[in-house]
This record gives sequence, structure tokens and C-alpha cells, in this order.
Amino acid sequence: MAETGQKIGTVGVIGAGAMGRGIAQVGMTGGMDVLLYDAMEGAAGKARDAIFAQLDQMVSKGRLAAEAATAAKARLTVVDALEAFAPADLVVEAIVENLAVKQDVFRKLEAIVRPDCLLASNTSSLRIASIAAACQHRSRVAGLHFFNPVPLMKLVEVIRAPGTSDATIAALVAVGERMGRLPVVVQDSPGFLVNLGGRAYTQEALRIVSEGVATPAQVDAVMRDNWGFKMGPFELMDLTGIDVNFPVSEIIHEGYFYDRRLATSPLHQLLKESGQLGRKTKQGFFAYDEAGKGVVPSADATSAAAPATRVVLADADDEALGELLRSFGFEVSGFDDGDSAILCAPLGVDVSTYAAERKLDHRRLFGLDIAGKLDKRLTLMRAPGARRDLLDAVVARLHDAGRAVTAITDSPGFIGQRIAAMVANLGCEMAQIRIASPADIDKAMTLGLNYPFGPLALADAMGLETVHTVLTQLQAITGDDRYRPSLWLRRRAQLGLSALTAD
Ligand code: NAI
Repeated sequence: MAETGQKIGTVGVIGAGAMGRGIAQVGMTGGMDVLLYDAMEGAAGKARDAIFAQLDQMVSKGRLAAEAATAAKARLTVVDALEAFAPADLVVEAIVENLAVKQDVFRKLEAIVRPDCLLASNTSSLRIASIAAACQHRSRVAGLHFFNPVPLMKLVEVIRAPGTSDATIAALVAVGERMGRLPVVVQDSPGFLVNLGGRAYTQEALRIVSEGVATPAQVDAVMRDNWGFKMGPFELMDLTGIDVNFPVSEIIHEGYFYDRRLATSPLHQLLKESGQLGRKTKQGFFAYDEAGKGVVPSADATSAAAPATRVVLADADDEALGELLRSFGFEVSGFDDGDSAILCAPLGVDVSTYAAERKLDHRRLFGLDIAGKLDKRLTLMRAPGARRDLLDAVVARLHDAGRAVTAITDSPGFIGQRIAAMVANLGCEMAQIRIASPADIDKAMTLGLNYPFGPLALADAMGLETVHTVLTQLQAITGDDRYRPSLWLRRRAQLGLSALTAD
């Protein structure tokens, strides 16, 4: 009996599309007998051919032994009726994303399979509880949420609905491991873990561009060069497709009853409505040529000015900034001669606010973002009315110091502090509302989204107090509840604890 701990030997997979065939494949290579069914005639047979071709390719690349491939192939049986699932220990459903259709399939399955057969859905946007509501025995119903392409993506989210038993969860975790995946247990919630956690990176980037702070190319360059992300938020959205990520954003925002922290921007919707869906339409935030290469405008400020020699420190006591500026070749002074550029390194504050609060000349004041890695690229922020001649001269000096420069308009938190703080805050909120354990949140976000670090580790690296300050400043300056810090973050910042500290 699977639900009471017996090893799962036979897995039924229903739906032989992009996901179903991947799930069947990892089941086969994981040593399980797999029954594959699809309602569309011929679809399961086509899937079998595709799986076999994949296995052959793995053998030719030396990633799978020939005998292992032969044994895996022998474990697959294509079936032409749901009734063939009678001997299954587990059925994984990967059919069309429609609640009524899924409920109907689960109802039918209950009449076919043994009472102890586990039933799992690979849904990405429906609640497992909604699907389980159609079932008699809900303790055996759970989510098994794989990522595309399944054989390459190691993560699987094991989704616990309110009625799911501990034994079911334990059995699915074990199955996931046998399939060569790294399972994390996640509560049944809108977007589950990875799709929810991924909102902050792209949606804050959209806000920054919507506010005219920077271009998509500039935002991407900062997140790659200063923060170590493999892809910028805009190239990522273009890759997944705006027709996919916009509806996911809407579902999650609605699912959390319009929490401002999860709202996307009209710009996102505009691209979807205009059919500029990203790579697949050769035009999204960027254009793509025939070969699929992005035509990305430069993110770098240019300058023909003579490099500035002297700059004034806005805060004469800011020794760290002074030292950094000297390392770039500036002569740094605490005395304002009335004509030099004044530099500050604000945390969560825009240059206008900084100038107004300290009665500084906003035309000569520039903000330098000192968060993140600074070896390749630097971000310079200006207030409205800033003197371009001074900006150009500062840019020229930074070029001489070997740095590309991203010149942006005023924004509390620049680009990087702002996006990083939002990613960290959402990670904290996921921990607070018990989506998963703190360690699993970081594990899932790095595996599922290819982030260089989990959101909680990011919070620790930035310093919790820093993240909290950036957010409270953003909240105060914009008046937008979107930036309210998670209580998880606030408490751990107050107590000087790691963001990974459990309650
Ligand atoms: P797909 O469209 O590639 O394949 C779905 C397959 O299910 C088709 O072959 C179709 O003929 C079959 N089907 C539809 N209704 C059926 C029924 N009543 N009985 C038997 N077969 C039926 O879809 P895909 O992308 O494989 O998605 C499947 C599920 O996995 C959806 O719930 C989706 O939300 C979820 N998912 C998709 C991901 C993706 O990146 N494509 C990622 C994670 C989850």
C-alpha cells in the first residue's frame, strides 16, 4: 500500500504532452514501470518515440549507459484507456490546465485505481484542494509539480493540500528522489513556491522601467553584472513568454487578494495585448533577429567629457565612499567649492530626497550605488535638473577606472538595491506564511529559477537591516504598500538574526 509506505513500483502518467513525457522519462530512468495515456489518439505513441530518442541521445552523449537505456525503455507501456491504470501505485496527471477537466479525470481515476493508489497533479496554477474536492479519498491527493524540461530541471515541488496525509507526502518525496529530482514540500497556495517567489525579480524590474528610471537593457545589465543573475529580468520574461508570465502574475496577485507586493505593471499587460510575447514572436522587451539573437540596445552611458578630477563627499564622514571614489582616481574633498560634482551613496533614498533633507545642490548631486559587486559596472543616479556636464565628467572618470556606467533617473534604491530587496522580502514573506521551510525556499529558488542564491541567503548577504531600511524608505517615499517589509524580515533584523532562522 503506497500510502502506508510500500515502495511505488508502477506509475501511471496521464497526459503525454511536454510535461507528461518528461515525467514518464524520469519515472522510467528512476526504475519504475510507467503506464502512459493520452486522450488524443496517437499522442502517447508519439511521446514514446520522443522519450526513446531522448534516451538514445543521452547514451550517445555518455550521460546514460546503453543497458540502462534499454532497461528504461522496457519499463514503458503505452495504454489506450484509463482503465489500464488499475495496477498503478501512483498516477501523475499532466493534462490540460482546466479545473473541470482535471476534476473529471480524478473522479474517473478513483473508480479505477486501488484505494491506496496515490493521485498527483502537475498543475501549475490550480489549487490541489480544488482538484481534490472532486475525490472521495482526499488524503492520497497531492501536487507533484515538475519544471520544464523535466529531465533537466532537478526541482520538484511536492504540494500538500489541507487534506493530504503525511504518508502521501513522504511517499511522493521518496518517488521524486527516485526519479532523480530534488523535492521540496510546499503548501497548497497560489503559484506554490517558485512561481510565487519569481514574481519579485521581474515585477519590480517592470516598475522601474515604467517609472522611467532605466531601460530594460540597463536593468538587465545591472542585475547580471552587479548581482550575479545569469539572466536579466527582461531577457528572462522574453524567454518564458509574456503570454505565460503575465497570466501567472495575474493569477498569483488575485490569489493573494491583491497584495500590492505582488502587483505587476500595465506595461506587462501592454506587451501581452500587443502580441509582443518575447522570443517566440521575435519581439518582446527586445527584438530578436532571424537567428534568435537579441537585438539589445546599449546599457552603457557614453561620455566625451574630460574626466572629473575633484568630487565632493555629500557626507564628509562617509569614509567608505571616500575611499572607493579615491580608488577610481578622484580627488575627494569634504569641502564644497560650489562647482564640483557632489557624490552620495544613499540607501533606499532617491537623490531628490537626499538633497532636500540635507539642503544640498540637487543639480550637482549624484548617487552612486555601492551595493552588489562593483568590479565591472557602476550605477549613477541623478535628480531632475541635474547638470549633464558634471555627470559626463564623472562618467568619464569611472570609464577610466575600467567600469561601465549605468546612468539612471531618480529612484529610491537605484535598480539593484530595489530589486534585490524585493526578492529578499518575498522570500521572507514566503517563510512567514509557511509556504515551505526557510532552507527549502532557498533550495527551490536556486534550483527552479537558476538564481545565484536563494532569497533568504540574499537577505543575509545584504544585511537584514539594510534590506529593511531600503524597503521602509521605498515605502515612505513612494507611499506604496508594495514595499512593506515582511514581519519575518523585520523581526530577524531587529534581533540581529539570519533570515534563515526558523521560528
Ligand atoms: P500539453 O498541452 O503539452 O500536453 C497536455 C496533454 O494532455 C496533451 O497531449 C493532451 O492531448 C492531453 N490531454 C488533455 N486532456 C486530456 C484528458 N482529459 N485525458 C487525457 N489526456 C488529456 O501541456 P503541458 O505543457 O504538458 O502541461 C500539462 C500540465 O502541466 C498542465 O496542468 C500545466 O499547467 C502543467 N505544467 C506545465 C509546465 C510547462 O512549462 N509546460 C510546467 C509545470 C506544470
